[in-house]
Amino acid sequence: PPSYLKLQKMSTSHKAHCLILPFQGQSHINPMLQFSKRLQSKRVKITIATTKSFLKNMKELPTSVSIEAISDGYDDGGRDQAGSFVAYVTRFKEIGSDTLSQLIQKLANSGCPVNCIVYDPFLPWAVEVAKNFGLISAAFFTQNCAVDNIYYHVHKGVIKLPPTQDDEEILIPGFSRQLAIGYTFVIVPEAERILEMLVNQFSNLDKVDWVLINSFYELEKQVIDYMSKIYPIKTIGPTIPSIYLDKRLHDDKEYGLSVFKPMTNECLNWLNHQPINSVVYVSFGSITNLEAEQMLELAWGLKNSNNNFLWVVRSTEESKLPKNFLEELKLTSGNNKGLVVSWCPQLQVLEHESTGCFLTHCGWNSILEAISLGVPMVTMPQWADQPTNAELVKDIWEIGVRAKQDEKGIVRREIIEECIKLVMEEEEGKLIRENAKKWKEMARNTVDEGGSSDKNIEEFVSKLMSTSH
Ligand code: UDX
Repeated sequence: PPSYLKLQKMSTSHKAHCLILPFQGQSHINPMLQFSKRLQSKRVKITIATTKSFLKNMKELPTSVSIEAISDGYDDGGRDQAGSFVAYVTRFKEIGSDTLSQLIQKLANSGCPVNCIVYDPFLPWAVEVAKNFGLISAAFFTQNCAVDNIYYHVHKGVIKLPPTQDDEEILIPGFSRQLAIGYTFVIVPEAERILEMLVNQFSNLDKVDWVLINSFYELEKQVIDYMSKIYPIKTIGPTIPSIYLDKRLHDDKEYGLSVFKPMTNECLNWLNHQPINSVVYVSFGSITNLEAEQMLELAWGLKNSNNNFLWVVRSTEESKLPKNFLEELKLTSGNNKGLVVSWCPQLQVLEHESTGCFLTHCGWNSILEAISLGVPMVTMPQWADQPTNAELVKDIWEIGVRAKQDEKGIVRREIIEECIKLVMEEEEGKLIRENAKKWKEMARNTVDEGGSSDKNIEEFVSKLMSTSH
């Protein structure tokens, strides 16, 4: 029977218990939270273990799953308190292993033993904890399979990142077309350390029982088939609330955790007053900062495109806006109205009929959300996985265009204007707009009953049920 189960029904109906261990970052915890809700609807009890410092900063906590705090050794300030990323990760491993073990013991003592740990592979030590307790372990990759495949090849020593000019044409097995590594992993301060962590995700991956990937089979067939020969891979995405996709989970409006407060009413009221498909939605996610010069070019590109726009500028970025920009926006009417907000309810914005295109930095969550809601994209990737994601959007799925940087690394206003016009209104962008609709359909089907992700989740759940006490 289909799983029309209430999200919060628990206790006696549960047959298995999963402990979910995300990395501390909202773009990591939210996909795991959405996955948890799917598991819970299939009668798996869920406990999310996250750090005290992370919980302290959240504006709102989800009500659909239980959350327990563990320690990363920096209970007051988390990563900021640690000073450096390396210090943070090192201490988290040491303290986190202990406090996670204590939590598992506590849950067992309270008559609710855990039988599986689903962990973010940024925290590979969780596998050892799982093994010590004889639990099933599943790595949950929040990025897509193409990007994971690149990091895998770095781990194997086949390629080096960041790439040199000579590497640009290297072809990595598993890609259907020439997806050169020159496109991926742009270096920023601390990126080398982050790269080390990305590569370490594979350090003990041969010991895990499952490798879950936040993507779906139809999106990345060739690379998934290739990686499946190496690891027990199952795609389980897109991890978007069911209300935007198959609508099979009741009361599933809640998106997730954030340190930012969305300006919901303001955004939606404003969108309600704009014509259908008239708005360019612009966001660079939760952590990416733009250079002041880039902000300026973007501001003028948006204005010159002569389209309405809704632009998320986090408060820490606001000082980079051109002088008087916000004041002038308030006076604008006609076809070029703009609203700048510090944070918005992105899924509701993408779902809105007034939204015609998404100018994005290509964070993986944003791309999956745009795919799920059928919104074509203009991409302006900045670092890490974003350039690879931008190439997939442009060349493989053909649901967007990439706004190219000049030799100084800046995307100029004319290019931004050109790309927006192409995706929003021009004949040349018609195929892109049609493809976006097709992928939306496929995203819904994959999590709906019998779809590829749904089958994978079912298989995972059956395995958990068969091994639970
Ligand atoms: C980070 C990395 O930057 C990215 O490269 C990697 O793929 C994931 O981790 P982030 O930059 O935050 O992520 O981007 P993204 O993955 O797109 O996540 C942003 C999330 O914030 C999305 O779920 C989006 O819906 C949400 N969001 C963004 C809002 O809810 N409101 C906003 O105003 C902006």
